[in-house]
Amino acid sequence: MPTSTMPATLHVSNHPAVLHKLAILRDEKTEPKKFREVVRELSWLLGYEALADARVRGRQVTTPIEVMDGHELGERIGLVPILRAGLGMVDAMLELMPTAQVWHLGLFRDERTLRPVEYYNKLPDSANVDMCLILDPMLATGGSATAAIEVLKRWGAVKPVRIKLLNLIAAPEGVKAVADAHPDVEIYCAALDRQLNEKGYIMPGLGDAGDRQFGTGKSD
Ligand code: PRP
Ligand code: URA
Repeated sequence: MPTSTMPATLHVSNHPAVLHKLAILRDEKTEPKKFREVVRELSWLLGYEALADARVRGRQVTTPIEVMDGHELGERIGLVPILRAGLGMVDAMLELMPTAQVWHLGLFRDERTLRPVEYYNKLPDSANVDMCLILDPMLATGGSATAAIEVLKRWGAVKPVRIKLLNLIAAPEGVKAVADAHPDVEIYCAALDRQLNEKGYIMPGLGDAGDRQFGTGKSD
């Protein structure tokens, strides 16, 4: 899919700080400790952009000088990290939105079929929320993201509840899959890469986001 035909729901950051940190993240020499640090920093920057249209409500504040009309976040927000790799994005998002709830969703991609397999779901009983932010560093085929969105919608996250997807790196194939199936979901990413390889990895990408964060790999 040429970049010119990308859906309007896709937001790719071009902030210089994001570009700088992305290069560190992609570098094969970046060790897990640094990798986790940069995932956290990029998540903060991406979360900041994704929340630009969040509603605020008035709140009176008394400064040391006088009383003024301030603001506070007016949305009930649920963060949905996709295990494992999405875990690394949670702390930064909680710093931005300390009152958000965190609902873990466990999905792994079957290496043979590339289809997502759900193995854990910690959603609360009801969808008592205004906005769900799905957190996952990688959007490759889009299978995991689409499955997560379907879980949320079945659970009750339907209009007026907004669902946003936050990825550090997206492939055009995954963007298309999500946009076709869920045109109501806004996608925020730090980079839109070229394409997938024959194993479903993003090119140029950064390799396996879970393995690089947690120091695991093929030999483990
Ligand atoms: C990775 C990544 C996404 C998924 C993306 O997780 O974190 O969840 O792959 O691929 P897709 O768009 O083709 O579905 P993985 O399945 O490797 O699990 P992990 O986080 O436990 O390593
Ligand atoms: N999952 C990853 O961690 N990396 C990819 O490139 C694709 C899926």
